[in-house]
Amino acid sequence: MPTPVDIAPARGRLGVLLVGLGAVSTTFIAGVIAIRKGLAKPIGSLTQMGHIRLGKRTEGRSPMISEVVPLAGLDDLVFGGWDIFSEDCYSAAKTAGVLEPALLEKVRPELEKIRPWPAVFDQHYVKRLDGPNVKKGKTKRDLAEQVMADIQKFKKDNDLDRLVMIWAGSTEIYMTESEVHQSMASFERGLEANDPAIPPSMVYAYAAIREGIPYANAAPNLSADIPALVELASHTKSPLAGKDMKTGQTLIKTIIAPGLKARLLGVTGWYSTNILGNRDGEVLDDPESFKTKEETKKSALDYIFQPHLYPDLYKDLCHVVRINYYPPRGDNKEGWDNIDLVGWLGYPMQLKINFLCRDSILAAPIVLDVALFLDLAKRAGMSGIQEWLSFYFKAPVHAPNLYPEHDLFIQLMKLKNTLRYFKGEDLITHLGREYYD
Ligand SMILES: NC(=O)c1ccc[n+]([C@@H]2O[C@H](COP(=O)([O-])OP(=O)(O)OC[C@H]3O[C@@H](n4cnc5c(N)ncnc54)[C@H](O)[C@@H]3O)[C@@H](O)[C@H]2O)c1
Repeated sequence: MPTPVDIAPARGRLGVLLVGLGAVSTTFIAGVIAIRKGLAKPIGSLTQMGHIRLGKRTEGRSPMISEVVPLAGLDDLVFGGWDIFSEDCYSAAKTAGVLEPALLEKVRPELEKIRPWPAVFDQHYVKRLDGPNVKKGKTKRDLAEQVMADIQKFKKDNDLDRLVMIWAGSTEIYMTESEVHQSMASFERGLEANDPAIPPSMVYAYAAIREGIPYANAAPNLSADIPALVELASHTKSPLAGKDMKTGQTLIKTIIAPGLKARLLGVTGWYSTNILGNRDGEVLDDPESFKTKEETKKSALDYIFQPHLYPDLYKDLCHVVRINYYPPRGDNKEGWDNIDLVGWLGYPMQLKINFLCRDSILAAPIVLDVALFLDLAKRAGMSGIQEWLSFYFKAPVHAPNLYPEHDLFIQLMKLKNTLRYFKGEDLITHLGREYYD
């Protein structure tokens, strides 16, 4: 058997730092508190409900993941965060309108205690938003230092052993890598010089990574996925994950597409449209923020279908993604997908999917799992990009010389094999010849 990885125990309390206390964050926090109180079940969370097979199928060993690797317990989580609005977490959850008032009342005292610290914010990067709870600083470096001071104070006040940070703030405008992102030295000069290529999300990411804290980006904007911050993460031993949580339509897309591809059914068109009425929808109504989202939403199919290997099946695929802001629906998104398929001898078929989902209900368990797994990765001595967490993201961060893995089932296998690797268990290849020899 392989040797297990030396993993420090999950002793003490884990601080979960959330940038943006909006619909996703408040649904996550209120949910964890409700689950702690036995009011609800952690449905959708692999760390809380998932099992993992170990060894051969004949051994009958399928313990819970939480029994196999040392994860922080829900009782040990302490929440803190930043937002441009100063309302406490209870009021923010009410504004978000995701959870029923009756449930929110039951967790109200705990939520009211969580008040956001002033944010690093600049409307240039999120056009449809403005708020009063914002830090002042001469340079972006000053702002990063203020974020680090918030983190240290939170750690001391709550007697925390470890921390993780998750960006669950609004989607920033579309940006691509530039000179200032290429090395740690140029990035730090850029912080001093207030370089416009450094948005607030990078300021937070820099602060976390400087402190050796794992960082995940739940949104699609460019953040820690730049060479400078990956370089810093390897110095400070900070695990990184992202980006853009795979929840509604893209989750379904990466479930359906690998199935069609497995049967070598051609696809000529995939039209995806959404109506969404929450603040996220409002921000995404701005073309610059939508462009960021569109990029991550569109990338999955190209990688799954591999049109360069299967030109007859996927070369001419017309893939269109639309999001329309439609207030009456609030957080309850409706997505429609029309898929134009081609079968034997080129005969056309159609598949229609109408998903009436709840965005933040799908996102909250992902935030929980990513926080717990990043903390595990840190205690296991891993740093930099954590490809095994691709399972949770629409546009998985990856090494520059690799293409990202989008197929949900390969992603799950990768995640579970990483857990087996941590424990020194045999990796599962699904070859299975030994049962018949
Ligand atoms: N819900 C999902 O299924 C899902 C899936 C993938 C990605 N996302 C992304 O997650 C993010 C959060 O989604 P949401 O539904 O909670 O949105 P939301 O609008 O309800 O919450 C975002 C919060 O971030 C705050 N914010 C914005 N900029 C900030 C900054 N610089 N510092 C601190 N706070 C800031 C806003 O004031 C707001 O309260 C969005 O970027 C969204 O695109 C959501």
